[in-house]
Amino acid sequence: MIKKTPETVILLNFGCKDIQKYARAIRAEHIYTMVMPWTVPVERVLQESPVGLIVCRDPQASEHPADLMRFQALNLPLLSVTDLAPAPAIDFCKNTCGCHGLWTVDSFIEEAIQDIREQVGDGTVVLGLSGGVDSSVTAALIHRAIGKKLTCVFVNHGLLRLGEPEQVQKVFRDTFDMNLVYIDASDRFLDKLAGVNEPEKKRKIIGAEFIDVFAEAARGIQAKFLGQGSIYPDFLESIPLDGNPAGVIKSHHNVGGLPEDLKFELVEPLARLFKDEVRAVGRKLGLPEVMIDRQPFPGPSLGVRCVGEIKREYLRMLREADAIFIEELRKSGWYSKTWQSFAVFLPVKSVGMLNGQRHYGYTIALRSILTSDAVTAQVVHLPWELIETVSNRIPQEVEGISRVVFDCTPKPPATIEWE
Ligand code: XMP
Repeated sequence: MIKKTPETVILLNFGCKDIQKYARAIRAEHIYTMVMPWTVPVERVLQESPVGLIVCRDPQASEHPADLMRFQALNLPLLSVTDLAPAPAIDFCKNTCGCHGLWTVDSFIEEAIQDIREQVGDGTVVLGLSGGVDSSVTAALIHRAIGKKLTCVFVNHGLLRLGEPEQVQKVFRDTFDMNLVYIDASDRFLDKLAGVNEPEKKRKIIGAEFIDVFAEAARGIQAKFLGQGSIYPDFLESIPLDGNPAGVIKSHHNVGGLPEDLKFELVEPLARLFKDEVRAVGRKLGLPEVMIDRQPFPGPSLGVRCVGEIKREYLRMLREADAIFIEELRKSGWYSKTWQSFAVFLPVKSVGMLNGQRHYGYTIALRSILTSDAVTAQVVHLPWELIETVSNRIPQEVEGISRVVFDCTPKPPATIEWE
């Protein structure tokens, strides 16, 4: 059970859309705040020992006076707003509720370490490490709290990007000196995927195989706890009714589907943090910047970026092309200005010219998007020179590729990933 953070202010959402942004603006003042829906039981609110409440009303919607009264009866300082400009709320938090702005990255880490130690006791924790920001920061934080009582499992399913397995092992085993179980299951995954063209089938195979490999490893470790990198936005869509920060997690984020005999208690130290706060914690814990600023990467990995059947040779071309694209984006400062940028392998052959010779090669599509929630996305207008550089380099440096195209389809009508 997570301890109470001092100076918590609860935002009660009476129908406001931009409430996450509002919460972040208050948190930026080092005042810890949580969003709860107007339907939340008052007992749940009191569990957080708040020093004040902010009622965020939708100006268009009709009032819910009875519901407001439940919160007024708590005799806590209460501010009611329809306009989500942060200044009045920060006035309110500081002057009326007496907040000093004590919630910092350091105070969060200190508190999280105490909580993890208290929860885990003499037990051990197993954690599935993907190399992504959330699982990496979770690993670093749990490791700081309980050291070798944490074992991380990193599964190489053969669909990772160039240098990823090496980087994860270098950081976690060599730099952090963690217990890291590295499983190279590439052949197992790629053999199962051979001949499979259909996107949903590919996803299912990758998902099921991952659970099997992870479960096998976890059985060997015999941990009581499962560390998970769930973060606050993973919970925000569901109603925070239990003791956990925000209730039921969105299903696709959970390491769900583990077999019946594997029952874990979850350790989720980042469950109260927004992504930028997770990154700040990761930096403080000494994770390298390339890990901290990494863009989101889907669970099925290059499996959904290698269109149609997956072959080792296709993956080799995709990895090399993707690495060139990312290298040029980083060099030009565009990597951090895009939400996701990646290469896609298309099994389409066309004529190319290399060293004066005609040859048939495959195609790479470049995709670069901006989004705030991945529900809709815009295509990034990358500088033409950058696209040109990448399109020149890939066919020259990646054997087997003769052509590069740029995907200029927004979402909708397209999805972000190709499969
Ligand atoms: P789409 O392609 O649906 O992607 O527009 C939206 C966002 O979700 C990511 N994505 C996934 N992430 N498992 C994940 O963890 C998945 O199966 C998966 N499919 C898509 C995608 O990269 C994008 O950010």
